[in-house]
Amino acid sequence: MSWAIILHGGATTITDDEAEAYRAGCLAALVAGCAVLERDGLALEAVEAAIRLMEDDPTFNCGTGSAINAEGGVEMCSAIMDGHSFDVGGVSIIQGVRHPISVAHAMLRDEAILIAGPAARDYARDRRQELCKPDELKTEKKEKAARKAHDTVGCLALDTAGHLAAGTSTGGLDGKPAGRVGDSPHPGCGFYADDQVRAVAYSGDGEHIARMMLAARTWQLLPLMDPERAVTAALSHVARIAGEAGGIVLSPDGTTGWDHNSPHFAVAQASSASPTRVVNLAKRETQ
Ligand code: GLY
Repeated sequence: MSWAIILHGGATTITDDEAEAYRAGCLAALVAGCAVLERDGLALEAVEAAIRLMEDDPTFNCGTGSAINAEGGVEMCSAIMDGHSFDVGGVSIIQGVRHPISVAHAMLRDEAILIAGPAARDYARDRRQELCKPDELKTEKKEKAARKAHDTVGCLALDTAGHLAAGTSTGGLDGKPAGRVGDSPHPGCGFYADDQVRAVAYSGDGEHIARMMLAARTWQLLPLMDPERAVTAALSHVARIAGEAGGIVLSPDGTTGWDHNSPHFAVAQASSASPTRVVNLAKRETQ
């Protein structure tokens, strides 16, 4: 049976100085996800493994290195979805945990699909997830960030049992109001997975992605067109309200697609058919 994985490091602007860190971080995350899939591990485990690496890498806007909100704090969102059972686990405005994706994964089989704020951290503590002081997730670079950050990370995987999974993790937007929740923990907005259709994950302006239901729109278009065209078509809706985003898609047969209208989009992918790990720091063509 075949496996495949695709991940992104965010729909954002990547300066020449940052390019190597994005490339190396995406590659390390990809290798971690591939290691799970190569030993017939679950797609869900591969998604978690890959995103954990990005949450530890301050290059990305998730976990350590998350965006700083208007009150100088770090509040994160993350979710994971099982394309076989349609179970979803999500956390939002969570503080003081090293790996929001692992807290979301711990929630996957619970009745609630989303838990927020201090209750989410309490949940993480009860499930023995790694806690930290909230300010330990801040980095000097993100505190000085002058530009809007919307480099939410995402990962999709197909395991050798034929199941798809989708995951997201983000610190949200720089300077966002405290308590603000974006698209990333909401199924149908920032992500979706359906073994019989495809898996999809988005990064970008959370309010715009949510208002245009980008993941749901893509999921609806996917049976009608190839993955890349479906993302491009969905992105045309976010452009209608001047939003910036990038999306990735993974099919049950392992084919992938992605597109973005942000200046850059760091994407990495591999599969059992093409195990060479590919990292692409795509720059949008001038319109
Ligand atoms: N796309 C992540 C956010 O806006 O929070």
